[in-house]
Amino acid sequence: MAKKPDYILFDKDTQAIVYNYQQNAIQRMLDFDHACERKTPSVACIVNPSRDGIHKAFFGTSEILIPMYRTLEEATKKHPQADVMINFASFRSSYATSMEALLNDNIRTVGIIAEGIPERRTRELAEVARQKNKWIIGPATVGGMVAGAFKIGNTAGTIDNIIDSKLYKQGSVGFVSKSGGMSNEMYNIIARNTDGLYEGHAIGGDRYPGSTLVAHLVRMNKNPDIKILVCLGEVGGEDEYQIIDAMKKGEINKPIVCWVTGTCAGMFSSGVQFGHAGARADSNRETANAKNEALKEAGAIVPESFDDFGEKIHKTWKKLGINETEVAKPKVAMDIKAAMAQGLVRKPSNFICTISDDRGEEVTYNNMPLSEIINEGFGIGGVISMLWFRKKLPDYCMRFIELILMVCADHGPAVSGAHNSIVTARAGKDLISSLVSGLLTIGPRFGGALDGAAQSFSEAMDNKLTPFEFVTSMKKKGSNIQGIGHRIKSVQNPDIRVTIIKEFAKKHFPNCDLLDYALEVEKITTSKRNNLILNVDGCIGICFVDMMRSCGAFTTDEANEYVKIGALNGLFVLARAIGFTGHYLDQKRLQQPLYRHPWDDIAFM
Ligand code: ACO
Ligand code: LMR
Repeated sequence: MAKKPDYILFDKDTQAIVYNYQQNAIQRMLDFDHACERKTPSVACIVNPSRDGIHKAFFGTSEILIPMYRTLEEATKKHPQADVMINFASFRSSYATSMEALLNDNIRTVGIIAEGIPERRTRELAEVARQKNKWIIGPATVGGMVAGAFKIGNTAGTIDNIIDSKLYKQGSVGFVSKSGGMSNEMYNIIARNTDGLYEGHAIGGDRYPGSTLVAHLVRMNKNPDIKILVCLGEVGGEDEYQIIDAMKKGEINKPIVCWVTGTCAGMFSSGVQFGHAGARADSNRETANAKNEALKEAGAIVPESFDDFGEKIHKTWKKLGINETEVAKPKVAMDIKAAMAQGLVRKPSNFICTISDDRGEEVTYNNMPLSEIINEGFGIGGVISMLWFRKKLPDYCMRFIELILMVCADHGPAVSGAHNSIVTARAGKDLISSLVSGLLTIGPRFGGALDGAAQSFSEAMDNKLTPFEFVTSMKKKGSNIQGIGHRIKSVQNPDIRVTIIKEFAKKHFPNCDLLDYALEVEKITTSKRNNLILNVDGCIGICFVDMMRSCGAFTTDEANEYVKIGALNGLFVLARAIGFTGHYLDQKRLQQPLYRHPWDDIAFM
């Protein structure tokens, strides 16, 4: 690549190393790049002392990966073409990292954002920059830019501001000021009164900045593409007298429009300290009025007041007869989030959720904030009623759900599911694997007969089959009646869980038609075999139908649908997860070894 003339700091190929992980500033640089139709992103890489890796960012509408390194040394080695270091380090570490950058052969310009670097330290940095013919922009600044080519970090603000100020294309005005905030304002004034900015810098408001107003003006004066110079000085310091000297020496011979702010300082009886550290007149010479007068005398175009600045810039530019090159306003890709917030785009969702929402300050279950659910004493039955059925059920229904969870929580280590959880735990697996291994055992024979029982019994009753006809029809089909039968419980050895459930239903439910029907069925099945009782699955499934049909909270369709989609088996699954977890913990506590089934318990044929 041909060597750039010395007066060019940045062009369309300039790439920077961003020191510190400033994601917003990086994205703003890349958005600017895209608006300028840069081919390559202006951020070559990031130095992040706390981790290396990659950073994903948008370059227009596509995503790119920006490498991240822990040290500047590595970053400069891997990206020798990057000659700008934008230093977002804090004021504590900014000196050391800026010095490291200045001493690195690859880096030519260092932008220092931090405020509060000791003056002595900045003067050391400035001296090294001078010796090595390098540039510092800052400290205590937002940075600088070349319109249509490259910008430092957050310079010029949002992409909307950049477009409004025509900064996506090259103009012919060179601008320099101390203040970052005012430079944004000035870019806009320049855009409205000329063909736009060529290059602009805010050097920062410290008394001893890393580069001076005059240094930039003299450099920009050499650039044939810059036709006018604009400078916004401020009360305090001698910088503007240096500009006058440069004008006298002919180092600045292009039209220069200048205004020194702080003219109101004279209205105060004592010296006024303005926002910047350097913005204070310690002698009459340093006042804004004195400096404006001196600039005018030296041949600069000086407005009457700041309000008149734009007009003076416009007249000066107009005299040069420059034709503005038209560049179509770039289209700016917007983040989908921002566009949606403004109501500009819509997209069909892939997911629908009607039960909970965590987008606000507090999660809601069925539109009710969690704290309200807790304060109102919903209990776990209430939480299930909100999340499974999307309604607050009557109190006795919520207590019924809790009763189910209690009675089904465990039934000892010998039942199929608990056995599997135990074997899995003893095989060295974790809690979730052991739990899942038990849960996967739940099905049509073990623990998963609630919905089947609810469905077949209610269908039979609704179709007005007598209990006998129902039993016979099931026999004809050759299928076991779901909810009937138990391996160890029988008429003589009744299941206390069934008794508890039945008693609760009889006591609280307005209607127990299906339970009564099932008890008639039980009379028939137990007359054949004494273990063909209405089992715990069957009793819960059937009573739950009675509850849904009679509590007033469900329509008939809703009640049928919950059975069809398998809600009732969920009650057993949820309850038994408590027991399986207990068995897992028990085995771990007991440090049980791997289980191997004994040969003598297997009939080898
Ligand atoms: N409906 C009709 N007849 C049945 C039923 C039933 N639910 N269960 C067993 N029988 C009959 C069988 O047809 C068989 O008859 P046969 O001797 O004339 O051939 C006899 O009873 C014995 O059958 P088995 O399958 O050996 O009985 P077992 O006692 O082993 O079965 C089981 C227990 C698996 C629970 C069985 O009753 C069944 O499948 N029930 C339906 C599913 C169910 O409700 N499971 C939940 C149980 S509770 C729980 O797991 C928490
Ligand atoms: C259970 O709740 O696990 C049982 O009813 C099954 C069994 O075999 O006891």
